[in-house]
This record gives sequence, C-alpha cells and structure tokens, in this order.
Amino acid sequence: MTSTAPDERVSLLVADGAGLSTLADDVRRGLQAPPLELPPKHFYDARGSALFEQICDLPEYYPTRTERLIIERRASDIARLTGAGELVELGAGTATKTRVLLDALRDHGSLERYIPFDIDAATLQLTGRSIAADYPSLRSVDCVAGDFERDLQLIPAKRPGVRRLVAFLGGTIGNFDTPARRDLLRTVASQLHAGDHLLLGADLVKDPAVIEAAYNDAAGVTAEFNRNVLEVINRELQAEFPVGAFDHVAFYDETNEWIEMRLRAARELKVTVRALGLVLRFEPGDEIRTEISAKFTPGRLAADLAACGLEPVELMSDPDSLFALVLARPA
Ligand code: AVJ
Repeated sequence: MTSTAPDERVSLLVADGAGLSTLADDVRRGLQAPPLELPPKHFYDARGSALFEQICDLPEYYPTRTERLIIERRASDIARLTGAGELVELGAGTATKTRVLLDALRDHGSLERYIPFDIDAATLQLTGRSIAADYPSLRSVDCVAGDFERDLQLIPAKRPGVRRLVAFLGGTIGNFDTPARRDLLRTVASQLHAGDHLLLGADLVKDPAVIEAAYNDAAGVTAEFNRNVLEVINRELQAEFPVGAFDHVAFYDETNEWIEMRLRAARELKVTVRALGLVLRFEPGDEIRTEISAKFTPGRLAADLAACGLEPVELMSDPDSLFALVLARPA
C-alpha cells in the first residue's frame, strides 16, 4: 500500500467517545424490549469495514460498481460544475471511488484539501495517508472520526474563498429513515455556503429481486457483515452472543421502499452483556433489525433535498437507472 512515514499534511481528529458510548446506549435501548433494533453504524469496526469492502466486489452487489461507473463518466463535469478546492467525504471508508473525483478535481486544477469523515478511525487513518501519498498537490488531508448524527460540526471550516464539495456516496443516506435523513441533510446544508455543492449517492427503486439478491449474496459475505455487529458487542461490551446462533435475514419492504436486514435467533438464548450488567433473553425466531437501506425514486430524492434547503443541479444515473448521483447546492 502506502509508506508509513509520517506526513505533516495528514491530521486526524477523533470525536469524544466516538462509537463506544453510543454502543452501550444503543444496546440498552435497542435490545431490552421489542422492537429489537441496533443502528447500522456499529457494523464498521476494522473487520466490518473490511467485510463491507468485500461486499462492494460481490457480483450481486450492484451499487458500488454502478456508482463508480457514473462517477467515471461524470467526474470531469462535476469538477467543472463545482470548481471545488476542498472535498469533504462523509463515510469515506477506503475512498476507492473518491479517487476518481480527486483525479478530476486535480486535473481541473482546483484540488487542495481532502476531508474524509468516517466512524472507523483506523480505516480513516489508512485512507488519509494513502490519499496524501498519492496526491502530492493536496495541501492537507484532515480526517475526522465521528458519528454522522452527532459530530458533523467537527468538520473544519473551509478556507476562505475556496469552494467546497461534500460527497456522501454509496447510498449510505438510505440507512436513515425520513426524519433522520432530513435532519442529517439539513445539517449538511447548513454547513454549505454559496458556491458549495453536495454530491449525494442514492440507490434507486427497482425490481425487488435485484435488490434482495444484493443483500443475500451467495457467498454469504453480507451474512457475516450482519453478524459482525454481535462480534463488536461481544468485544466492546464483554458480551457472550453465540454469533452463529443468529441467522441473516434481508428482505425488501415494498411499502417503505427499503431493504431491511435482521438477525434472527435460531434457538432460545440467554446472553450476558457483562459491561452493562444485562442478561438478554431471546426466543427462537426473535429478530433484531440491524439496518434499513432505503431505495429512492428521483422524485423522492428531490423532495428530501428541497425539504432541507437544497436545490438539485443535476441528476446523474446509469443506463439501467440502478443508482443515482445528485449534485445539489444551497437553495
Ligand atoms: C454502506 C449503507 C450503502 O446499505 O447497501 C451493504 C451497507 N449493508 N450490504 C447498503 C450494506 C448490506 C450499504 N451502505
């Protein structure tokens, strides 16, 4: 990969109590009484982030490669339309697709700063170093580890006179229900100035069989990813979930237009969570909802953006209309 020599251009800011404190609260709140639920952000420790990278390469998982195709086709337009000097990326992960955007901004001559934001500080630091090494023209790479719903104000202010592009790729916005999604988009919008843009990736409504296959891959990687949240709880909260006793469930809810992932207890279980002094009881068939991943119509996307003070500049899609990237600006 990349050299481990320190690079003064790279900084890392970690939000107070990132991850852990909310894990304890989320377990207390979400697992003691039905409907059982855990927020998807807890999937992403180092192992979960690596499993997600594997998901991105699965034949059934169309979002990543489709979004990459759209970015490849439109990156130079995005650079021209935004003239961005700073790229902020929410949920940067390994920033693989981002490189196409960075290339375009560099070639456009405007790129000077990359600000990746992610819940997993370890992945973030590797990403930041690797990007800094590969883009010598970047003056700084300022990494922020935190939670979208709590820590966006830690994103550093932009340098005066520089245009900013905030990228929220991959369809991660689908992890939030409508009220939470709008809260998040409103916060993002409130940090944009005239001349700044948001580039939002969203998975589109389509044949449910195609969507369900993407979350029930034949190799079982998504199942491992889903169960990983129990591994995280076992490690961080000294719990004793028998991880293999939970089955992976993923189905498309046509009314809500979202994928729902759950973990279903295969047998009766008593699970100690030592750090919280809890004993959780599960009957066979009890289900924990671990993720929603909403799918959008262009109209619904536009309505969400408008409700948050954002105005679409351009909607970009692939020939099969599987996925969309919307470029928007403050209204
Ligand atoms: C990272 C939230 C976009 O919802 O498709 C992949 C996560 N979950 N397979 C998605 C995920 C199961 C992914 N996002």
